[in-house]
Amino acid sequence: MKSDRNILGLCGSLRRTSSNKSLLEAARLLAPDGVTLTLYEHLGDLPAFNPDIADDAQPQSVTDFRAALARADAVIISSPEYVHSLPGSLKNALDWLVGTSDLVDKPVTLFNASPRATYAVAALNEILTVMSGRLVSGASVTLQLSGRELDAAGIVADEAFSAEIRRGLNELLKTIDT
Ligand code: FNR
Repeated sequence: MKSDRNILGLCGSLRRTSSNKSLLEAARLLAPDGVTLTLYEHLGDLPAFNPDIADDAQPQSVTDFRAALARADAVIISSPEYVHSLPGSLKNALDWLVGTSDLVDKPVTLFNASPRATYAVAALNEILTVMSGRLVSGASVTLQLSGRELDAAGIVADEAFSAEIRRGLNELLKTIDT
């Protein structure tokens, strides 16, 4: 088993008080010893994907995003649903990875702050499968947080929520360690 494991959290919402962001922050607080969960907070800084730019000169923001992914042993994506799909900023970030092998065989799971977001989950599953990510469906966590205004500490304080997040993290870590 690796002694230090890195998980990258990608939040599909750019909202300051995003429930998906709070969920990832709660997972960061609940991560066991030897596990560092880092939130990638710059999805909104990535330029609109353009294959010409990707081929000619990769923007620094894209280089940084790809480096964060390369450092990660696993990825957790927590995203709201917008108009029955994933938000454009998250789709744009994933588009930048097309033509790279950054997600190939990388353990990836989906956290979700709203049980209603079924179309976004289905779209992400499809995209990540096409990109050859190693989808860890058993590590997925869905909680009803949307509209509850709970911050990370509030989520951690809820025994049922924190137990479910710990379960998801442990399932994801098993995949890294095998
Ligand atoms: C939404 N929301 C939403 N919810 C849903 O279940 N299906 C949908 O199609 C949409 N569409 C949608 C479009 C737009 C433009 C907005 C702003 C919102 C609601 C949204 O997914 C929900 O409030 C999330 O819980 C917000 O997540 P964060 O920002 O708290 O992480």
